[in-house]
Formats: sequence, C-alpha cells, structure tokens
Amino acid sequence: MPQGADLFEIMQTTRAMRRLKPDPVPEDLIRQILEAGVCAANGGNTQRWRFLVIKDPKIKTAVQVFYKRAFDEVVGPRYKNSTPPPGVTRERYDRQHAAVEYLTDHFHEAPVWIVACLDEGTATPTRGSGASIYPAVQNMLLAARALGLGATLTTRHLLHEKEAEAALGLPPGVRSYAILPIGYPMGKFGPVGRGPLGDIVYQDRWGNPYPGL
Ligand SMILES: Cc1cc2nc3c(=O)[nH]c(=O)nc-3n(C[C@H](O)[C@H](O)[C@H](O)COP(=O)(O)O)c2cc1C
Repeated sequence: MPQGADLFEIMQTTRAMRRLKPDPVPEDLIRQILEAGVCAANGGNTQRWRFLVIKDPKIKTAVQVFYKRAFDEVVGPRYKNSTPPPGVTRERYDRQHAAVEYLTDHFHEAPVWIVACLDEGTATPTRGSGASIYPAVQNMLLAARALGLGATLTTRHLLHEKEAEAALGLPPGVRSYAILPIGYPMGKFGPVGRGPLGDIVYQDRWGNPYPGL
C-alpha cells in the first residue's frame, strides 16, 4: 500500500499479522512508527510513555519463554474451549488460533519489538494509566500497516509480568503495557472481522437501537 493511503482503508486492514519474515526492518521505518506513536493523546500531556526498541535476540528469547508459558498454561486451553467471536467464522477462528500458536513459537524471531511502557514511579496503575499508552500503541500499529509492516498488539507476557519485565530489564517504576513484534508479513493484509454495529450501538437508552446505521 502506498504511503498516505486512505486512513479508513488502513484501519479496516490493520489486522494482527502474526507470521513475520526475519528480514530486518529499516531504521527510518522504525522511527516513523515511533513518531506516529507519540502523536497520540495522553492524559494531561504528561508523556510518561517510554518505548524500548528490542532487537537483541537474547532478550527476545528470554521473554518468549514467559510468553510461551502463558500460552501453555492459559491461552491455549482457553482457545480450545471457546466459540468464534462476532463476525468471525469457525474456519477463520481456527486459522486465528493457528496463527496465535505460530506467533507464540516464533515471538522472539520477529526482527524488532517495540515495548510500550509507562514511567509511573510509585503510582499504582489504574484503568486510566492504560488510556495514556494504548492510543500510542494503536497509532504505531496503524503506522506499521501504512508502511507495509506487520505487527500485533500483544499483552500476554503480563501473565508473567514480573519475570518478563525483569527479562526486559525495565527499571523500578516503569511498567510495560504491550509488546509489538514487527516485521515484514509473510501473508497479505486483509479486512478485519468484526460483528455488526447494530449489535453494539444504542441511542439514548441502553438497548435502544441507534437508527443511524
Ligand atoms: C489488549 C489486547 C491484547 C492482545 N494480546 C495479544 C497477545 O498477547 N497475543 C496475540 O497473538 N494477540 C493479541 N492481541 C490481538 C488480538 O488477539 C486480535 O486483535 C484478535 O485476534 C483479532 O484479530 P484481528 O485484529 O487480526 O482482527 C491482543 C489484542 C488486544 C487489544
């Protein structure tokens, strides 16, 4: 997709791209992704976000151990017993599951990770904390897509937060909120699968259909 392609088309095709080539990602593209990240809104414009770009295979491998452990203990069994979400066929859901397993095994092979963090000091993280980092994360996912790079928003390492953050070498007071494995995708970008708006949008009173659809 050429640069500057329609934003709506980019949003509609920014899927979790879990199968990535090991080819390196040029520095100027990583910089563009990071610059898109810091365009995002953040509470009070305090900009407590910090981004750790990881290329070192040793660090990625150390973190992958916990990502995989969380799959084996929690995510894998949960997938096996779950039904497809709205807007997703059984076949597509099974393909997603296979891709999730693939990324689990190859997490550390993505050529670059961006770890999105907040420097929170001694403050206890709240729902509001996430609200100051996930807009930046989404901007980076959209930017990666616009640049022809695949990425996935991942948070599973948080199931083993202490160990994973120690492996990432985060200093005290800094917490991670997402790891984005980024690389050139093996497959093609395609449309996201979501349920109809009519099922989730109401007007004035909860449950009252919104007529504007
Ligand atoms: C909060 C959050 C956490 C996620 N964590 C992971 C993760 O750890 N591993 C993963 O493979 N995908 C993760 N995802 C991606 C979702 O699984 C993905 O968006 C979903 O499967 C739908 O796929 P699509 O975006 O390609 O349509 C996460 C997404 C969100 C929003």
